[in-house]
Amino acid sequence: MTAGPMTADEMAALQARAYTHMPPWSALALTEMMSSPLALLVTAPNGFALARVVADEAELLALAVDPDCQRQGIARALLVKLEHDAHTRGAETCFLEVAETNGPARAFYATMGYEMAGKRGGYYRQKDGPAVDALLMKKSLTFG
Ligand SMILES: CC(C)(COP(=O)(O)OP(=O)(O)OC[C@H]1O[C@@H](n2cnc3c(N)ncnc32)[C@H](O)[C@@H]1OP(=O)(O)O)[C@@H](O)C(=O)NCCC(=O)NCCS
Repeated sequence: MTAGPMTADEMAALQARAYTHMPPWSALALTEMMSSPLALLVTAPNGFALARVVADEAELLALAVDPDCQRQGIARALLVKLEHDAHTRGAETCFLEVAETNGPARAFYATMGYEMAGKRGGYYRQKDGPAVDALLMKKSLTFG
């Protein structure tokens, strides 16, 4: 299955390069999620953002930018478009989970206006180490 300009295989490979804090999704898991009518996908040449929109809530499920192309504003552009499209579908709030230890992503989400909404203890299981807490973050999509 293709996802616009990026195939699920390409997305999985990109995510595997970018994700150091948790296992990436498999191409099959990506394909299954994207086949849902609730899925919302935004792609760029070197990154993608995948969310699910249910009623008035969006949940960001995956966001990855190729390590060679980070700090060029790609994630910002992806998330701005995703938030806009989610709002168009009726979402008023966007939620996401981020590993407490994922400093770059936490800095990025703070820049994008996301605020702490809770904590999930031991949420991310790691192969070689203790489980890591997830921070639940949210942002209102009700613009203006
Ligand atoms: C988090 C991630 C998606 C950011 O992608 P990106 O394209 O590099 O982000 P942008 O260039 O759009 O960054 C926008 C702003 O966010 C902040 N930011 C982004 N990365 C940062 C970092 N490593 N350290 C500190 N601040 C950062 C900065 O304020 C940045 O603006 P600036 O570059 O002008 O200072 C990328 O680091 C990534 O793919 N990480 C691995 C996967 C991951 O952790 N995904 C999130 C899972 S919840």
